[in-house]
Amino acid sequence: MYHKEKYERILSESSLDEIMRKAFEVHILVPAFNVAYLPMVKPIVEVLMELKCFGLLEVALPDIEKFGAQSFSAVKQEYEKYENKAYTRLHLDHVPVIDEDGDFVDWNNLIQKVLDLGYDSVMIDGSRLGLEENIDVTKKVVKLAHAHRVPVEAELGAIYGHEKGPLPPYEELFRSSKGFTDVEEAKRFVKETGVDWLSVAIGNVHGAISGAAKDEKKVNARLNIEHLAKIVSVTNVPIVLHGGSGIERESVLAGIKNGVTKINIGTAIRQAYEKELRKTGRIESSQNMVKEEIRQLIVDYYGIRGSAEKLAALLQE
Ligand code: 13P
Repeated sequence: MYHKEKYERILSESSLDEIMRKAFEVHILVPAFNVAYLPMVKPIVEVLMELKCFGLLEVALPDIEKFGAQSFSAVKQEYEKYENKAYTRLHLDHVPVIDEDGDFVDWNNLIQKVLDLGYDSVMIDGSRLGLEENIDVTKKVVKLAHAHRVPVEAELGAIYGHEKGPLPPYEELFRSSKGFTDVEEAKRFVKETGVDWLSVAIGNVHGAISGAAKDEKKVNARLNIEHLAKIVSVTNVPIVLHGGSGIERESVLAGIKNGVTKINIGTAIRQAYEKELRKTGRIESSQNMVKEEIRQLIVDYYGIRGSAEKLAALLQE
């Protein structure tokens, strides 16, 4: 057993890149929670500290444009009020090259801005591009971010759910492996881009972010673990699972054993916050609902309470 001060110091002084590599090697999950509204920052940090679990806070362009995260700098400012490097870091989630409405995004400027703001890691999402273009854009972001010593996540494959309109029938999607990350492409993508973490499509789908569907319960997704194992065997980088809300527990646990290191959770905590706010109009009780949701996930679903101490001990070896 390490003293609290000792393991907190080890983690605080480790780079996010080192922490994620170690987590990948020893199969410890690092959950990443989307900040859809600014007041969600406080309860996310607090509950991670309370459960001594290492995790990320993250904000995506849709959190800003479709919900209440306001701006990348507003999130960073709010985060600075509560951050604790032993338990949390701040990640830039989805900056798509082409967004869910089909519009081109000024990704270069946005990534540069966020790097200047001091985010700890960034994601570029070129998954709506062809392979060559995705490689090209991702390579550019890796060069830019690595110059700031910031790790990069990129996406390959089609993770459905963010687009307007209904999701293709889930069972059909899963059975046909439609949009799944191709193993050979993944091998080439990681080798040529030098990307640090890879977001894959293996049965996971995003929760809806527009229309009435954004308030509805997500489908229960599953993961194709054999396919995941094949991707990991040729890429050997931490795997990221988007669409983390509502994936069957058995699948998630098998995913962690087979290379999933980061899981993004958006819909579950956003809906908990919005539902309580609509009911009571009180921010504080809505923040408590976010905590409750995260507590359940960390303790009961993933079983990763106390992961910070474990990671610190392994980083020290
Ligand atoms: P869910 O909203 O489905 O949890 O997914 C979140 C996500 O992947 C954010 O990038």
